[in-house]
Amino acid sequence: MAAKGGAVGFFDSGLGGLCILDAFKELCPHESTVYIADSKNCPYGNKPADEIVRLAERHTRRLLKRGCKMIVVACNTATAAAIDTLRAEWPDVPFIGIEPAVKPAALRSKTGVVGVLATAGTFGGRLYNETKAKFARDVTVIATVADEFVELVERKEISGAAAERVVRARIEPLLKAGCDKIVLGCTHFPHLKPLIEKICDGRAEVIDPSDAVARQARRVLSARSLLAPASAKPSHVFIRT
Ligand code: DGL
Repeated sequence: MAAKGGAVGFFDSGLGGLCILDAFKELCPHESTVYIADSKNCPYGNKPADEIVRLAERHTRRLLKRGCKMIVVACNTATAAAIDTLRAEWPDVPFIGIEPAVKPAALRSKTGVVGVLATAGTFGGRLYNETKAKFARDVTVIATVADEFVELVERKEISGAAAERVVRARIEPLLKAGCDKIVLGCTHFPHLKPLIEKICDGRAEVIDPSDAVARQARRVLSARSLLAPASAKPSHVFIRT
């Protein structure tokens, strides 16, 4: 059972989900947060779904023990593998998940070609495939697995010539294929947004869903009357496995 006055819990395979945490803290400055970075088990991208479900259950239990009132699954791969199980197991707890922003990219694309960067786990999941079938029927979607971006971010190597080479090798082919929208479908990737935008040089819009996820989290807190009062003194806990 989620505690009414508690913090908002977040988890990811590592540091990726911090972009969601930052967007949320900016939007909801009175909320306390607990963030679990599961760096010990990073990356999740190629792990079997049942293993990710077990890890997600463990993080959820830990966050609920700390009195969290809502859980943000700040990881596309974990959402794809585990969100249905988590919601079924803890029906009273609000869970916020994240999936690649294929819909806005498809609707806004002028070239009819969009690129999505994510993990193999996300591309294999029901959410991504249903959204793509529903909203991206009339566009070409180029799905690109970019696991090496996850490694860069975990090493905090988000700029410099070596990082640029790695990122360019994934982005240039998308631009050459005519993509005018590039979706960051893994929470590690917004950390590389400045570099990706530099490489795109105006040729494609880079779509980062962090703010939209933060807004959805606030909407759900508000709908359930769980928002912290303006008088609350927020605390922020960071746990790294
Ligand atoms: N940050 C995670 C995501 O959003 C995955 C990174 C990993 O492979 O662990 O998908």
